[in-house]
Amino acid sequence: MDIPADLARRAAELRDTLAYHSWRYHVQDEPEISDAEYDAMFHELTRLEEEYPALATPDSPTQKVGGAVSKALPNQEHALRMYSLDNVFDAEEWLDYTQKAARLLPGTTPEGLAFWVEPKMDGLAMELIYENGVLTTALTRGDGHKGEVVTTNMRTVKNLPLRLKSAVPMPSILEVRGEVVITRADFAALNEAQQQKDAKLFANPRNAAAGSVRQLDSAITASRPLRFMAYGIGRAIFPNAAPWRTQQEIISHLAAYGFAVAPGAKLCAKAADVAAFYRCLAEHRQELAFDIDGVVAKLNRLDWQEELGFTAHAPRWAIAMKFLAQRVCTRLMDIQIQVGRTGVLTPRAVLDPVTVGGVVVSYATLHNEDEIRAKDVRIGDLVVVQRAGDVIPEIVGPVPGERRGTERIFQFPENCPECGHPAHREAGEAAWRCLNKLCPAMRRQTVIYFVSKAGLDIQGIGEKWIVMLMDRGLVKTPADLFRLRKEELMELDRMGDKLADNFLQALAGARQNTELRRLISALGIKHVGSQTARALGGKYRNLDELGAAGAEELRQIPDIGPEVASSIVEFFQDEGNRELLRQLRELGLWPQQAPPPPGAALASPGGPVSALWGKTLLFTGTLTLGRGAAKKLAEEAGAKVVGAVSKNIDYLVAGEAAGSKLAKARALGVAVVDEPAFMALLVAGQPGQTAGQSADRVAEDAPLNVGGQAGLFD
Ligand code: IVH
Repeated sequence: MDIPADLARRAAELRDTLAYHSWRYHVQDEPEISDAEYDAMFHELTRLEEEYPALATPDSPTQKVGGAVSKALPNQEHALRMYSLDNVFDAEEWLDYTQKAARLLPGTTPEGLAFWVEPKMDGLAMELIYENGVLTTALTRGDGHKGEVVTTNMRTVKNLPLRLKSAVPMPSILEVRGEVVITRADFAALNEAQQQKDAKLFANPRNAAAGSVRQLDSAITASRPLRFMAYGIGRAIFPNAAPWRTQQEIISHLAAYGFAVAPGAKLCAKAADVAAFYRCLAEHRQELAFDIDGVVAKLNRLDWQEELGFTAHAPRWAIAMKFLAQRVCTRLMDIQIQVGRTGVLTPRAVLDPVTVGGVVVSYATLHNEDEIRAKDVRIGDLVVVQRAGDVIPEIVGPVPGERRGTERIFQFPENCPECGHPAHREAGEAAWRCLNKLCPAMRRQTVIYFVSKAGLDIQGIGEKWIVMLMDRGLVKTPADLFRLRKEELMELDRMGDKLADNFLQALAGARQNTELRRLISALGIKHVGSQTARALGGKYRNLDELGAAGAEELRQIPDIGPEVASSIVEFFQDEGNRELLRQLRELGLWPQQAPPPPGAALASPGGPVSALWGKTLLFTGTLTLGRGAAKKLAEEAGAKVVGAVSKNIDYLVAGEAAGSKLAKARALGVAVVDEPAFMALLVAGQPGQTAGQSADRVAEDAPLNVGGQAGLFD
């Protein structure tokens, strides 16, 4: 199978980025990104590799459990591999998981599966090996196959038994697995002590625990308030059969042997009870003694665990249900105003830095003036900050009971803080805008946007460099970038010979290879995002044609309403924009869209139009074509592909093993089509086929849900 070059590039980029962040997390104990950001990239890579198995190189992070082994400590193989866990993030995904598990266990129903559930503790995974009841070896997880030997250090951990407490039944080998954690209270005291010694502060309890375990000097480990909480086993060899048949029995035996076990763990007889446990812990997590980042649900019956087995990196019999948003309290130090590309003044909360979900947060968005009023946040307030996955942190609200009377109500400025020009808030709009077209902040943001991922996506030329170039007066408009000379670049701090060459090469590449839709998006026309830019780029051959189009004509394009149409027309009438376009043309940045090949399912002026043009689609289940390829084809045909079910969807394309989305779509009365029907719609409008023919193939009762394995069970 041919792999599109851009997907291969993206996979390589994801592999490198994930490997780097895995190292930051597991080796350096200093993560730079949140778990949610990591998970999202991991998920994207897994998807790409599912579609194009040739992309799954042996060094892909999907082929191993994250983590690497430090050079300084000796290594040892795990007798049984220490796996990672797959994640679900909401009740719907949990339901999908139970359905897939039940399908793999003949004679069971999702509702009838009993799960042992525990908090997912946020610490460092550890394996303790007991031989004839005595602790002989402690190993970190390392890369899952091989861990670091930290026996002397772990012997200093006060809450673990150096010898198993109960002698009956005595295993000849028992490997106990669990998490090394530090409670929040101990963490606060530890950091205070560090501060007094002028030593480095730890970012969060997890890093403190990991750093403490992986010391070369065990006296340091001994001085740290570490705890070991057991959650499972590796090898267990008994003179007779092992004395347990369920996860619950394992845990009660571990407790009898003298281990602290995950607090609050319980047996849930029904899948719905697990969801309730998850909701309850999500709500009360702040009340627990230590940080948790979700719930782990494990099939209680060990024979079923064995039957389900493992994927390449995780057990199928267990799943982590991660929490989405983390909330913490901190002080609101100030409110600053940032000026965006379109002149919108956005308030930003300056916070007393605080760790939320493993990431230090110093700023949060406050959206607009009304939001500050509605939430009644005042400078100096203690505020609740929330971070949901990779979303920008936001302020939930103040803690009014903590007010001291010195808090200040924020006055929204009536002038742009960058250029001093009067700002304006239009009736019915939430945003204040700077009206000065020459505002330096707006110009800066315009150039930053031009090169960003949403625009030309020029690699290596980010915000930092643009700010430097503009501060030095070397660049005023996007066109100036393409006139930069090497000598000018070399004036910049930290710019080397090689970097300058790369810089110029990237710009030259952009000038020659930019597609029309990217340039349209890069111009930052109000209301024109990448989706609209794609539609415009598919319809017009170049910017001359687009610039000549009137509002009426533009409105014929699906998804373009009167507001977007007039915004496009205004953009091309503006003298400043016309000058920019003149310069871009002169510089050779003037892409021409080739007319589509005859018979192609593209919406070109006068050409055949796919029946999917302007339609909204959602894919679910496994498609033989691959999700990514199907999405690409659909978008090329002018369809919009979305991720969630709603009644605004025109078609749900259901592949094999479609789950809850299919049920929901049917409940909402959305048309459901199978893969062949989707292909027919895609090419409808071409000679020999009509949209009507393919729409007849709506697969109300097509053989879906036929036990395929997808998603978590790859
Ligand atoms: S069970 C086969 N239970 O989460 C893997 N893991 O993301 C079984 N973790 O490396 C793991 N609390 O260190 C399990 N109650 C719990 C846990 C837990 C935290 C960690 C564990 C694992 C990581 C996977």
